Amino acid sequence: MEKTKKKFYITTPIYYVNDKPHIGHAYTTIAADVLTRFFKKQGKDVFFLTGTDEHGINIARAAEKAGKNPQEFCDKNSELFKRAWKNLNIKYDYFIRTTDEHHEKTVKDFLKKLKQKDAVYEKEYTGLYCSGCEKFLTEKELIDGKCPDHKKEPEKISEKNWFFNLEKYLKQVESLIKKNKLILRPEYAKKETLGLFKQKLEDFSISRQKVKWGIELPFDKNQTVYVWVDALLNYISGDGSEKFKKYWEDGYVIHLLAKDILKFHAIYWPAMLNAVGHKTPDKEFIHGFFTINGQKMSKTLGNVIDPNNIVEKFGSDAARYLLLSQFPFGQDGDIKEEKFVEKYNADLANGLGNLVARVLTLVARNSIQYTRSSKIDSKILANIKKLKKDYKKLMQEFKLYETLDEVWKFISFCDLYIEKEKPWQLIKNHESRVKNYELEKILNNLLYCINEISDLVAPFLPETSKKIKEQLKSGKSIPLFPRI
Ligand code: MSP
Repeated sequence: MEKTKKKFYITTPIYYVNDKPHIGHAYTTIAADVLTRFFKKQGKDVFFLTGTDEHGINIARAAEKAGKNPQEFCDKNSELFKRAWKNLNIKYDYFIRTTDEHHEKTVKDFLKKLKQKDAVYEKEYTGLYCSGCEKFLTEKELIDGKCPDHKKEPEKISEKNWFFNLEKYLKQVESLIKKNKLILRPEYAKKETLGLFKQKLEDFSISRQKVKWGIELPFDKNQTVYVWVDALLNYISGDGSEKFKKYWEDGYVIHLLAKDILKFHAIYWPAMLNAVGHKTPDKEFIHGFFTINGQKMSKTLGNVIDPNNIVEKFGSDAARYLLLSQFPFGQDGDIKEEKFVEKYNADLANGLGNLVARVLTLVARNSIQYTRSSKIDSKILANIKKLKKDYKKLMQEFKLYETLDEVWKFISFCDLYIEKEKPWQLIKNHESRVKNYELEKILNNLLYCINEISDLVAPFLPETSKKIKEQLKSGKSIPLFPRI
């Protein structure tokens, strides 16, 4: 189905504005940008949505602490995300904020439909609420009476709420997942989710009585919409245009997220959509969660890495590369910031940068014209053909790390080719008036390879790809990645 669809719609989670953008957020957003660029190159019509999650008790409290009114606080902090994405050269189609007017309308319309379909009911409820997670926790989930993620005691909340009748839709959602109508990747995420259906999945509340910073529930003015219901609906709000609706309805819909929010996306979200007879997402890809030097990234530990700092030090393309080349997308991993310099120098300065510089310098000195039509070594052609086939397959499976690995193996192959052919020796023996066919052949082979590499790295390193193309055109060498 994926292959036959022309329209693609890719989303990231919308990030809470009480936090500054960190490399965890950047990781998902860069991946979405890379996939968007890749699918566009494959001829797809892609819409890429990211944004910020701005309602709820946690944000209201953070605003109060900062001495700001919530709207002002959100306006300021959502800009931080926009700025970080700009620095990372992320080209989204729309940046949604849950305080956008058109989103508010989507939420209200959707909730009215839920009510009409009899999917919600009112109930008095007492529960343990963790404002960090913005969800109720069960006694069983607590460790030493505290939320395991936020290390805080949850608050006991007793109020009248509206509940979503999850139970009514569980069978449908389970079947969607089993039949791969909602594809959950990697496999473990599918297994884990299917496992949840075997336990008791409770109905969840969709409104809050005491939280004022939120969208008013259209059928009960004393309540605001629960922040997670509000947030999930961002995916169908999009940019609010008529054109956008087609991406959801006719397109191949892909959500990217990490496993911390799997249950919301794989169970609650399709259930809500089912309840109103709406189309459900086609695929959810759950990437890994990373730690910093073995520890969870947290403000308290002071180990939060700001993506802007990586861009400042290494440049935007390198920052994108350094994050995606840490470990396979879909697996957990540990990041060591000190290793960034080593990786940068090895793969970008000495790897790709050096290959391009070496070849272009020889080309410039010997006035060689790059002609794609020139005869390219058959072994090289065969190698490239296989590389492109593997590349496409890996990218379609979102194996971003493995894709980069394949491209970098090819860069090493080019380095070996230079070492073997030793073009500099041909220059030494070159009598200026005699055309040096051998030298021209070798350099043309290399230029051909570099041109292919520039296409393959384009979704990951868009600026570098452009710079390589410019050099191939002008024949002049421009340094790409200075050693650090
Ligand atoms: N606002 C909700 C999402 C609503 S979507 C309808 C939320 N926001 S969040 O700011 O906490 O962002 C969570 C997401 O950020 C994760 O699912 C993941 O995409 C990314 N990451 C945050 N920390 C991360 C790591 N340490 N490692 C990898 N990704 C991480 O939840």
